[in-house]
Amino acid sequence: MDVHIWTGPTSRGITFPLGIWDKDFWRHGLGGEVLDRLLDFGFDEQLADRICAMDVRRANLRSRGLFESRGFRVVREISPDGVDLELSRRSPEP
Ligand SMILES: CC(C)(COP(=O)(O)OP(=O)(O)OC[C@H]1O[C@@H](n2cnc3c(N)ncnc32)[C@H](O)[C@@H]1OP(=O)(O)O)[C@@H](O)C(=O)NCCC(=O)NCCS
Repeated sequence: MDVHIWTGPTSRGITFPLGIWDKDFWRHGLGGEVLDRLLDFGFDEQLADRICAMDVRRANLRSRGLFESRGFRVVREISPDGVDLELSRRSPEP
């Protein structure tokens, strides 16, 4: 998987493509499992401040539903059809 990690002056972030080729495997929890592992990798191993889902199609309710179920929120409207979503660093476990 082509995970992109960058470090800027004030933050460290991660982007990645997410897609399951075979539609027969959609809606079985696989996308959520992969995303949860990416969040663990990004926040816990890479110490990212934010994890970004770039240019998600507005009409892609499945994809948006997946990201929003994990707390991602729209941070930018990048075109009439696309938005960027982000999840900021989660609080440390008590
Ligand atoms: C987007 C994608 C990765 C989701 O993977 P998935 O395995 O189908 O998702 P999951 O079964 O893990 O669903 C996780 C959560 O997403 C949300 N979700 C899934 N399908 C949804 C739909 N049709 N509408 C709204 N929310 C949906 C739900 O919150 C779901 O949790 P729940 O089933 O417990 O309610 C997959 O559909 C895919 O590969 N699509 C084509 C490529 C693509 O669109 N990639 C994203 C580009 S930004």
